[in-house]
Amino acid sequence: MSTVFITGAGSGIGREFVQQYLAEGWNVVCTARQAAHQTELEDAGAECFSVDMQDAPTILKTAALLQSRTIDLAILNAGIMRGRGMGFADIHIEDWQESFFVNCIAPALWAGQLLSPLKRCTTGKLVALSSGRASISNNVSGSTIMYRASKAALNATWKTLSIDEPDVISFVLHPGRVRTAMGGPDSELSKEESVSQMRRVIHNADKSTTGRFLDYSGNSLPW
Ligand SMILES: NC(=O)c1ccc[n+]([C@@H]2O[C@H](COP(=O)([O-])OP(=O)(O)OC[C@H]3O[C@@H](n4cnc5c(N)ncnc54)[C@H](OP(=O)(O)O)[C@@H]3O)[C@@H](O)[C@H]2O)c1
Repeated sequence: MSTVFITGAGSGIGREFVQQYLAEGWNVVCTARQAAHQTELEDAGAECFSVDMQDAPTILKTAALLQSRTIDLAILNAGIMRGRGMGFADIHIEDWQESFFVNCIAPALWAGQLLSPLKRCTTGKLVALSSGRASISNNVSGSTIMYRASKAALNATWKTLSIDEPDVISFVLHPGRVRTAMGGPDSELSKEESVSQMRRVIHNADKSTTGRFLDYSGNSLPW
């Protein structure tokens, strides 16, 4: 049975990934930060660890428990968008730190810790949920400074990972604009549509996918 590891599984896109992989018969190992979500995920059949993505010691302690496992696929999904309407005059250092920790530093920490379990598979895959707003060359509308900057840093991290760790298939995925707490009710895609399409892209990924920035349909996005 294949094993997938998913962060931020308590709600939104992460929860949908859990449901779809469980329905397909995968062994699902995931993280959530709220106790109620953890119970729901375990009742659904997943193995769930309680981890806040700002808590590096807990990330490292949890990852240590997974070292002897074999993981086919890791999806680093947890993310936040702070300060939607904030301009450059409203900089809050704590929001910047939280944005960078959750959106870039925590995924990088997980990536480093999950390499051994992923390398036990010939096609171990390490996928991070990025955003169209991470694209520097596509940024024509500005706004959401901390989100754009932290997701661009995530992209740079994953590009480097793909070069430094060629034995793992690593790439970043933009899920589209999805109706979740983050995406809001007017976004074009349902969670079901976005996740089923991303699962297809992930399934089809091979060594040639490493180091790419793709959307949920498998189209390349500009860095
Ligand atoms: N929705 C979109 O339109 C869209 C577009 C582009 C990219 N994305 C990316 O897709 C990913 C999933 O987004 P989403 O739409 O599902 O967002 P969401 O509904 O806001 O869910 C975010 C997930 O991340 C978790 N999370 C946030 N901060 C955390 C922390 N400090 N520790 C642990 N978990 C934390 C949340 O946990 P709780 O359930 O406890 O809050 C939740 O499970 C994110 O990386 C996001 O940037 C989304």
